[in-house]
Amino acid sequence: MCGIIGILGSTPVAPRLVEALKRLEYRGYDSAGVAALENGAIGRRRAAGKLANLETELAASPLPGVSGIGHTRWATHGAPTTGNAHPHATDKVAIVHNGIIENFRPLREELIKAGHSFASETDSEVIAHLITEYLNKGQSPEQAAIAAVRRLEGAFGIAVLFAGQDDILIGARKGSPLAVGIGDGEMYLGSDAIAVSPFTTRVMFLEEGDIAVLSRAKVKVLDANGMVAERQVHTFAGGAAAVEKGNFRHFMQKEIYEQSETTARTITRYVNANDESVQMPDLDGVDLGADSAIVIGCGTAHYAGRVAEYWMEQYAGIAVETDIASEFRYRKPAFAKKSFAVFVSQSGETADTLAALRYCKEQGLKTLAVVNVPESTIWREADARLPTLAGPEIGVASTKAFTAQLSALAALAIAVGRARGTLSSQEEARLVHALMETPRLIADALKVEPEIEVIAQELAQARDVLYLGRGVHYPIALEGALKLKEISYIHAEGYAAGELKHGPIALIDEHTPVVVVAPHDALFEKTLSNMQEVNARGGKLIVITDAAGAVACAEIAQHIIMVPACDPFVAPLVYSIPIQLLAYLTAVQKGTDVDQPRNLAKSVTVE
Ligand code: F6R
Repeated sequence: MCGIIGILGSTPVAPRLVEALKRLEYRGYDSAGVAALENGAIGRRRAAGKLANLETELAASPLPGVSGIGHTRWATHGAPTTGNAHPHATDKVAIVHNGIIENFRPLREELIKAGHSFASETDSEVIAHLITEYLNKGQSPEQAAIAAVRRLEGAFGIAVLFAGQDDILIGARKGSPLAVGIGDGEMYLGSDAIAVSPFTTRVMFLEEGDIAVLSRAKVKVLDANGMVAERQVHTFAGGAAAVEKGNFRHFMQKEIYEQSETTARTITRYVNANDESVQMPDLDGVDLGADSAIVIGCGTAHYAGRVAEYWMEQYAGIAVETDIASEFRYRKPAFAKKSFAVFVSQSGETADTLAALRYCKEQGLKTLAVVNVPESTIWREADARLPTLAGPEIGVASTKAFTAQLSALAALAIAVGRARGTLSSQEEARLVHALMETPRLIADALKVEPEIEVIAQELAQARDVLYLGRGVHYPIALEGALKLKEISYIHAEGYAAGELKHGPIALIDEHTPVVVVAPHDALFEKTLSNMQEVNARGGKLIVITDAAGAVACAEIAQHIIMVPACDPFVAPLVYSIPIQLLAYLTAVQKGTDVDQPRNLAKSVTVE
């Protein structure tokens, strides 16, 4: 989950390392550090807390050198202190590490017996000492790194800098992603392409078990068997501009406002506007006419999958099972014979989702990835992919990636319906038409911000908030609750509205606001009854609905957030906007760190 950068440069490296770390801070922000070669010796600057603290440290104590490595941390082993911050170093090497070294305890004991002394509580520090041990035995930097990496168990992406060796940087990947950036007379290592994007557009993605030996002139890649391997060089157009905040106060706000455009981009990829049909890319043997499907993801991506479950069942009549990846992978689930598996992930690196994908592949299932980051591990390992075209998502709380996932999954549901013969071409055209209208409806829904701002002032005072929804809006209620808790730190729970009287109704009192996602659809009357139950117990209702729904609940709702009326098929996309704004504006009221909420990281590459 941590961010890694390495540069073999030609100009002072410390400011460039920091620039790259700014792009990686979304991966973790407990502490940060850089190391560089100063006349051949390893110099380090590290600081606990946000990257700004490291910048202060560097301003007070500049770090010269043109080759270096940097790291932004999401703590796993050891508290987020300066001493535990990366790079970890001996007098011979400095390393940065993303992942978990599972056998660090026996390695550490072995190295202590061999005379090494450790300065941190981290699992990562063993890597520096292990490489040093092999260097001490007379091995070259390349041999020492290879020998050390072979002994590491667990997940890692690492970058290694060697004292006295100004033209070598070594990277290794197993389980955690690592990219090589190729510059003109410079070389870079990064835990993703965004890290190296300020310096180059030419990027090579390392594969499982790869070790890359970089000099300024060339890259040598050794595969898991130690054989020299070729890795394709991609042009990465992710662009530096995409990760600027512009005039917005937070990345999350910017990303919420981008959704008219990002959903349009994604929807257009999967529909033919002329004949209003869906068009899927080559799915490499994934049979959309199968009898059943599995949809897997974590957090927000899982909720997108839950929406897809309703869609695929309703419009395609296919049996769908959705699960959280971390549960699925240890369940030993049984599969129907004719089935396919869909994996939903913004980052494409989530460890549990990746493990679930690998499990399904082992079981012989065809796999389809709905992924936002091109060339990420899930993207590459799935049999087929439906890219979501949200662009880089920097705010830790997912917003535009969620609606892009919904956009791609909606198209998939239609395609499955067509493949299974449950949708006529007229019905397909109606659904595609509704989908194409969605970006405009999202733009309209964004206009509710001023009303939500008033409500957010009240919500910010709450200790607990309930979110209710029915049918396809139940996952939207779950997503609303997740958004609120992760950025405002207010306790929130999402419930199926019909489940209220089976327990959660005991929580209702005048201090517990209840947010209800209630478009005026076929289930509205049922949800209205649940609203009455809340009202009868003194609960405060914040109802997100359309004009018809607003009339129906005018007397009982404390607040109504009105969004445009829309086809029920696309309502989950439209109703996502107010629930995101509600969480965002409440967090702003509370003054929390919206883009980098405490304890979280954007890319969860550990189990
Ligand atoms: C919540 C959020 C997380 C992610 C989850 C999966 O706002 O962002 O719940 O959705 O960690 O991440 P990806 O989609 O990268 O697999």
